[in-house]
Amino acid sequence: MGQLSRTNAIKQPLSSFPEWTSTHGIPQVGRSRKLYCMGFWAIITLIAAALLIWQTVLLILQYYHYDVSVQIELKFEQRAFPAVTVCNLNPYRKSVVYNFPKVKRLMDTYEYTMKSISCGADPTCYMATNATLEQYRTMYGFQGIYDTAALQTRAKNILGLEIAGYNITDAVDKIGDFIQGCSFNTQDCDMTNDWETYIDPKMGSCFAFNTNATHMAQRAGPIYGLRVVLKTNISEFLATSDAAGMRVIVYDQGEKPFPDIFGYNVQTGSSSSIGVTFVDMSRLAEPYGQCTDDKPDNYLYDLAYSTEGCQRSIYQQEMIDNCNCYDPSYPIPAGSNATVCVIPDDFACWARLTNLSSSDNSCTQPCNEGVYEVTVSSAKWPSGSVTQVGNCIEGEYDESCLTVFKVFF
Ligand SMILES: *[C@@H]1O[C@H](CO)[C@@H](O)[C@H](O)[C@H]1NC(C)=O
Ligand SMILES: *[C@@H]1O[C@H](CO)[C@@H](O)[C@H](O)[C@H]1NC(C)=O
Ligand SMILES: *[C@@H]1O[C@H](CO)[C@@H](O)[C@H](O)[C@H]1NC(C)=O
Ligand SMILES: *[C@@H]1O[C@H](CO)[C@@H](O)[C@H](O)[C@H]1NC(C)=O
Ligand SMILES: *[C@@H]1O[C@H](CO)[C@@H](O)[C@H](O)[C@H]1NC(C)=O
Ligand SMILES: *[C@@H]1O[C@H](CO)[C@@H](O)[C@H](O)[C@H]1NC(C)=O
Repeated sequence: MGQLSRTNAIKQPLSSFPEWTSTHGIPQVGRSRKLYCMGFWAIITLIAAALLIWQTVLLILQYYHYDVSVQIELKFEQRAFPAVTVCNLNPYRKSVVYNFPKVKRLMDTYEYTMKSISCGADPTCYMATNATLEQYRTMYGFQGIYDTAALQTRAKNILGLEIAGYNITDAVDKIGDFIQGCSFNTQDCDMTNDWETYIDPKMGSCFAFNTNATHMAQRAGPIYGLRVVLKTNISEFLATSDAAGMRVIVYDQGEKPFPDIFGYNVQTGSSSSIGVTFVDMSRLAEPYGQCTDDKPDNYLYDLAYSTEGCQRSIYQQEMIDNCNCYDPSYPIPAGSNATVCVIPDDFACWARLTNLSSSDNSCTQPCNEGVYEVTVSSAKWPSGSVTQVGNCIEGEYDESCLTVFKVFF
């Protein structure tokens, strides 16, 4: 009895299902008197159901793709003037660093190797070999290099190691030597409070403007921005510095500038105008994309996380782990008691690590970043109509004032 009613309880709603379901196909199947009608409606219903399932699966898959949309908003608002760093393309003064024996031997070897490379290409050329310099050439790994561009970059890299032990206070530019004139928003700059000086091991001394965001961007155009007159002394250029000019980098105050790899070169004897637009970028973190604002352990720099800072930190950590010494081009991790890499003891290990071609992919982009998009234009400078440039008084130098200056807005 109980058995019967239970079967009934299941059977009844099932047999009446075609009548009460809200779908369209199934009632048609139930109502059909002819077998082929029933088959027709059944097939239609199955196809429709399959389509429904297919669409639903697509929708779910799409959801788990974590697609994002890019949103761009144009805003007109009061913003802080960007931080601007200017560096000389020649890191150290020749007249000072050539007195350092290790730097002198590097530069001599560099020039000797340069000569012997160009001489080697010409069968009529004869060059006396210098046993001492040949020995240094092997020590610096210049032996297998037959391209002057490769040699120059190698020598620039090694310069960082050779100069590490010396006191470079007198070898780098002072602010008064480098910046000859400065105005912001048509007013005089305050040379002591507006500019911050720091030493970048690859670039020598660099000068940073508005790092504390004290100046606001009031109006657009070159007149209301920052205008600086910069001077460099070509006769102080090292053998490895072949480009005469300055490096300019415009960045957000929250970020660490890396003037040795980013930024723009402006040449001497020209007036360069740099226009910027600011783009504030926010990226979505996992699972939408790969970005991070968290600094990894042993991150070397203050201020916000950046991909370059992360890669340098990993490089430095590998250097310390593998060679027991740190590369003086980058800071030493806090709390580490590794010593600086020296030539010749650590050279082979250092060269192997700087030469690694495979890179670590663990450094992702930052989630929040302010990017200045820059357009640079330049004109000949001085135009010829001026008689007075910067703080220069005619007759002060061997060359005329006009030949030693450089300006940019
Ligand atoms: C080899 O070069 C060194 C370093 O520049 C120099 O002091 C030395 O006099 C040179 N020797 C010869 C034989 O030219
Ligand atoms: C480096 O040289 C400068 C100027 O010659 C001097 O004032 C300074 O004390 C020196 N620094 C060190 C660490 O010796
Ligand atoms: C910027 O602010 C920091 C901390 O408040 C201060 O130490 C530094 O001297 C300031 N820099 C300038 C250029 O005013
Ligand atoms: C450039 O450096 C050389 C060598 O140190 C010096 O004799 C000359 O006076 C300097 N020129 C300028 C314009 O500073
Ligand atoms: C630093 O040096 C001290 C003593 O020389 C040693 O006990 C310590 O383990 C070293 N620390 C590191 C991180 O190598
Ligand atoms: C640097 O790497 C290249 C290619 O991987 C290799 O041919 C070269 O010998 C390496 N140089 C040094 C100094 O290790």
